[in-house]
Amino acid sequence: MTIFTASTTAPVNIATLKYWGKRDKTLNLPTNSSISVTLAQNDLRTLTSAATSERFDEDQLWLNGKLESLESERTQHCLQDLRDLRAKLEAQNPSLPSMSKWKLHIVSENNFPTAAGLASSAAGFAALVVAISKLYQLPESASEISKIARKGSGSACRSLFGGYVAWEMGTAADGSDSKAVEVAPQDHWPEMKAAILVVSAAKKDTPSTSGMQHTVGTSDLFQERITNVVPKRFEEMKQAIWSRDFAQFAELTMRDSNSFHATCLDSYPPIFYMNDTSRQIVKLCHQINAFFDEVVVAYTFDAGPNAVLYYLQENETKVMAFIHQVFQQNSGWDSKFSKQDLEVFSEY
Ligand code: PMV
Repeated sequence: MTIFTASTTAPVNIATLKYWGKRDKTLNLPTNSSISVTLAQNDLRTLTSAATSERFDEDQLWLNGKLESLESERTQHCLQDLRDLRAKLEAQNPSLPSMSKWKLHIVSENNFPTAAGLASSAAGFAALVVAISKLYQLPESASEISKIARKGSGSACRSLFGGYVAWEMGTAADGSDSKAVEVAPQDHWPEMKAAILVVSAAKKDTPSTSGMQHTVGTSDLFQERITNVVPKRFEEMKQAIWSRDFAQFAELTMRDSNSFHATCLDSYPPIFYMNDTSRQIVKLCHQINAFFDEVVVAYTFDAGPNAVLYYLQENETKVMAFIHQVFQQNSGWDSKFSKQDLEVFSEY
């Protein structure tokens, strides 16, 4: 029997301008545009292989070595869209094998521990959709394919690109213009670095979809955010990236994280994603910036207590020395920082 296969990797992406709120839950259409920064040096990604054959008798998925269900509505949406595109291609080229009618076997692995508390759904859905579109030899662009990944998990559409990525919310009711586009490739600003501070590896207590719906439905601040704050910030952040203005990029990133968490706190009953340690990190970053009288570090928090810090390569030891000083009793320090490096800076 002939088995056709294709593999791909997709990176984890972290939003610096947050997607929070759906205007259409089934199509995962957002209430605002968002931006993410995906840095290859962090190398957090999902590797997915897809196979198809006339002889397979059911769709199957192995996720991190375990057989998982492919039955979720979101996954089914993605598979259907990909099969529809393949069927269109087969209709145009009758000599192509009828893969659109065959079952799929998918194997997917994350190269980061699930316990790291990182949302893996973005990289997971992006890798799934790209692996199958490669297998089907679909001619559509990455932006076009990102619309399918978006239906799996909204933020997944941004994982189709590396570097600096925008998800344009679009206005069409069918989602045809709600897609990811590249703002700049990673090598446009290669000095940018990110560090993930794992505050808790526990599963978040309010999943993003229900958290978003609750915020949209109950927060007064939310309307202000999507109407008067984010549209302007979206343009400003792209500009800061294009001009490699770290101080501006960092301030927008921190303000946006604070604004998103403020709408969560403003919902009723409130949702708390950040905890005391998260708030300690926020305070520390502002203290570091005040100490150097220059913005050298930015924080951002997703729907959980873990922090992602952005800084330029030249400031890495400065930033890490302060973090180390405060959190040195914690495990998990990267051995690439010598104790001496950290101590020199800790003396500040
Ligand atoms: O795509 P989802 O449903 O996992 O939602 C992601 C929400 C945030 O991570 C908080 C923000 C974002 O833009 O990624």
